[in-house]
Amino acid sequence: MSVGPVLVTGAAGLIGGWLRGGLPERGWAVRSLDVVPLVEVRPGEDEVVADVTDLAAMVDAAAGASAVVHLAGIATESTWPAISHVNIEGTYCALEAARRAGVRRVVLASSNHATGYTPRPDEGLLTEADAPHRPDTYYGVSKATMEALGSLYADRYGMDVVCLRIGSAFPEPTTVRQLATWLSPADTVGLVHAALTAPDPGFAVVWGVSDNTRRWWDLTAARALGYDPVDDAEPFAAALVEAYGDPGPADPVHARVGGEYATGAFDAERIEAQQVGLAEEP
Ligand SMILES: NC(=O)c1ccc[n+]([C@@H]2O[C@H](COP(=O)([O-])OP(=O)(O)OC[C@H]3O[C@@H](n4cnc5c(N)ncnc54)[C@H](O)[C@@H]3O)[C@@H](O)[C@H]2O)c1
Repeated sequence: MSVGPVLVTGAAGLIGGWLRGGLPERGWAVRSLDVVPLVEVRPGEDEVVADVTDLAAMVDAAAGASAVVHLAGIATESTWPAISHVNIEGTYCALEAARRAGVRRVVLASSNHATGYTPRPDEGLLTEADAPHRPDTYYGVSKATMEALGSLYADRYGMDVVCLRIGSAFPEPTTVRQLATWLSPADTVGLVHAALTAPDPGFAVVWGVSDNTRRWWDLTAARALGYDPVDDAEPFAAALVEAYGDPGPADPVHARVGGEYATGAFDAERIEAQQVGLAEEP
């Protein structure tokens, strides 16, 4: 393990909070970067308040780091100007800053929505190789682009770049779909630790889900990195099925990787209008 801290971008967010707690327990020092200040800086933690799209600030932040874990961004669908700037330009800056600072490993928070229109297989588990880019939103396009940028930096500069196609990273599953797609807080930490420590991963893309009884995404590639999931969403199943029913794999929300985002019911235009409306408020 390299001695420098891990630079975590988007550290003030949900997953960032889990990593800021969990990575030090696994021996990592953490340098936490976000555009907003942390509510509370932990003992031993470095804090950097910066915008991930500010390349000069990112190069400074990456200096002396052993790895970059890039989480910063808009974590749902939004307008194209916002997504393309924060998520795509931001990912370029994270990778380019790592390269300029001599940091050899980058872990990227990709998403299932990079492949969201991919249909569920009739039987068996879906591998990453069987789910090429098929984004379901502008957000998904930004994650497909994230993976493409990671591939470029691995091939062109020989960096190790591990892309985590995260399912649903929340404290606990809150929908029936998430009984398949949940990534628990503990497994998020375990997966990122595996991505940071796997020997010579080169460029890798792996699903990020817990060992859920109902999952249909294959974990062979993630396990090959050293990921050893400890959680399963099934204990939440009875209550969620009682509340929402159990629609089955043919239901539109369950028929494709991206769930609701890949259905006609997902109203991207309404979200966009809301975002524009918000932006226009004084
Ligand atoms: N939580 C999930 O279920 C899930 C699933 C798939 C992928 N992901 C990805 O994981 C990452 C983290 O997700 P999260 O759930 O913690 O989201 P979050 O919204 O809680 O955290 C994102 C953080 O990024 C920061 N940020 C936004 N713009 C920034 C900028 N320009 N510069 C610096 N920081 C900026 C925000 O302030 C926030 O603290 C995101 O990239 C998201 O797309 C999350």
